[in-house]
Amino acid sequence: MAEEKPVIIYGGSFDPPHKGHIALAAAALRQLRPRALYFVPGFRTPFKDARPVPFAARLALLKEALRGSALDGRPEVKISSFEAGLKRVVYTHETIAHFKRRHPGSRLYFLMGSDCLASFGKWKNSGEILRDAALLAGLRPGCALQKRAAVPFVPLDGIFPRAASSDLRGRLFLGERPREMQRRVLALIDRKGLYLSRERARLKRTLSPRRFAHCLETARLAQELAPGLGLPPQKAALAGLLHDCARELPARRLRSLALKFRTPGMAYKTMAREAPVLLHAWAGAAEARGAFGVRDRGVLEAIALHATGTPEMSPLARLVYVCDLAAEGRDFPEAGLVRELSRRDFAAAFRETNYVKLSYAFSCGGWVHPLSVSLWNSLQETKLK
Ligand SMILES: [Fe+2]
Ligand SMILES: [Fe+2]
Repeated sequence: MAEEKPVIIYGGSFDPPHKGHIALAAAALRQLRPRALYFVPGFRTPFKDARPVPFAARLALLKEALRGSALDGRPEVKISSFEAGLKRVVYTHETIAHFKRRHPGSRLYFLMGSDCLASFGKWKNSGEILRDAALLAGLRPGCALQKRAAVPFVPLDGIFPRAASSDLRGRLFLGERPREMQRRVLALIDRKGLYLSRERARLKRTLSPRRFAHCLETARLAQELAPGLGLPPQKAALAGLLHDCARELPARRLRSLALKFRTPGMAYKTMAREAPVLLHAWAGAAEARGAFGVRDRGVLEAIALHATGTPEMSPLARLVYVCDLAAEGRDFPEAGLVRELSRRDFAAAFRETNYVKLSYAFSCGGWVHPLSVSLWNSLQETKLK
């Protein structure tokens, strides 16, 4: 029996789909002339984010990316709902086995970006994958070394754009319009309010341009520093973005909102009397939950504690505390110094932030929030140990 034309399987999160995905698939079609090329979006994305993009929305984005692209109208290009149908994390070897059953006479190829080759050896049942399918990879600029990768693969002709979904997600959170993505996909993201675009749009309507810019810069720095602290960038971006969402609400509203998000040591009554501006942090957490629909407790706590700090802060809360002070655009000299320090030594930047915030409070005279003082004392104690 003559061997049938090959079948290409292109698995991934497509979170978001970009021009690099299309270019890779188009090159694979040119080179192998398969009977079918299946995009196989995973049901779950492996990213532990506060606002994961649901499967249905990623599927809609992928369809939009294919529409109007070089792949549009090609009958051999299909989107498979195999992984979606299982409603769980599906390993590549399971996907390959599925297509092997479906196309018993065809040579299978598994298409991937060249950056995945380095980690391939760690994939579950990688030997089984290599037995049943050939790896097909597109090289990115500067990846010449990967031609000698430990794992055998078929290189696609050409050099492919260095677009990475993780990088694109980060830029989308901050409202950028990456050139590596099709305009129609970006428009759909806006219409569906994905990648924090809904939150950004609401915040922009609520805050003055200056305050909105500060929130964006806080989110930008938080997102930049998050991976070094083992934190999901999207969570960091969301907490940074919304930390001052209540900052410009009227005093009465601040008071009532702050009561909806109490934390230990909050000293509500004294704070409302002596330093009511601080209420915006707790009110912000309540507003993020109520008006912005944030359910992630860690994000809400980071917002509540960003102004005063407290001795027991999660890494995310520490991150927002530092980034609020050190964000680009702050007009006091310490901000730049702490920003620079945060990239080298985050723990030192955290101590310095507490020092700068306390110094400012002392210089104004009057009441200083006990949580900020407790944080200062706890940091001195850890230094002495
Ligand atoms: Fe604030
Ligand atoms: Fe702030």
